[in-house]
Amino acid sequence: MSQTSPQAAVLTELEPVVAENLDRHIRMAKEWHPHDYVPWDEGRNFAFLGGEDWSPEQSRLDQTAKAAMFVNLLTEDNLPSYHREIATRFGRDGAWGQWVGRWTAEEGRHGVALRDYLVVTRGVDPVELERARMDYMTTGYDSGDKTPLEAVAYVSFQELATRVSHRNTGKATGDPIADKLLARIATDENLHMIFYRNLVTAAFDIDPDETMKAVANEVMNFEMPGANMANFRKNSTIIAKAGIYDLRLHHDEVVSPVLRTWKVFDRSDLGPEGEQAREQLADFLTGLDAQATKFVESRERMRARMLAKGQTPVQV
Ligand SMILES: [Fe+2]
Ligand SMILES: [Fe+2]
Repeated sequence: MSQTSPQAAVLTELEPVVAENLDRHIRMAKEWHPHDYVPWDEGRNFAFLGGEDWSPEQSRLDQTAKAAMFVNLLTEDNLPSYHREIATRFGRDGAWGQWVGRWTAEEGRHGVALRDYLVVTRGVDPVELERARMDYMTTGYDSGDKTPLEAVAYVSFQELATRVSHRNTGKATGDPIADKLLARIATDENLHMIFYRNLVTAAFDIDPDETMKAVANEVMNFEMPGANMANFRKNSTIIAKAGIYDLRLHHDEVVSPVLRTWKVFDRSDLGPEGEQAREQLADFLTGLDAQATKFVESRERMRARMLAKGQTPVQV
């Protein structure tokens, strides 16, 4: 990107806001240690060292908790790709560079903690997990040709989405230790979301039209970073059926609160292009809301059918 491009200008204009929010983030973030959240006394050797290899009955997690933990950990595992994405867009200098480093270090903790927990408690098959990690990281993650503004808008939603999904995964495990660990990770994700959300708030004041277009684009094309991992479709269906992450949560707890903070539908500073993007966004949200209602209704019918058959539907 040339240093005179409008996108580079936005990054320069946002730099003081990044510095201020980096300070705020460091003041707010509390130190924590992955090893504190792992029940090491449950650990034992695998066959390679004379112990026993993994088998399904060793896991205390049901199919839903397994699927959600698997997706959450693999999503965290692809950190080198996410680092590359933000380091290339935001740069390695000044406050932007410091944020990229700090964020990467915090995210690194999430994968370490989840993997230690799962391997020690034998929650999921470690061989399947390792093969899926190799696969997913080899493919890598590519967010396409997002501009820096689109990237900050995207991560505002994405960090909040991971917060919701980690928090509800914790509940779904039925294990107080996993619940505590995932709540701790979710707190980090929330602070990440606030950092990016504050940048977008500032971007709206600098360039309302361009920011509105970027926000509308990211909401309308939103995809979780894990979308290209092994079994994503199957696992995300399980996750949605249990209410860990579904369209209703996406609309009500991720997209809507963030848009409200930016006063997207109350702004009076938009030109024709921003106005047009806002109208498209409003139409999209109406459709998303209707789809979410349909999904929840069909899930309710499915749960009622299961109860009638004497089965217990999984829900968080
Ligand atoms: Fe994370
Ligand atoms: Fe995060």
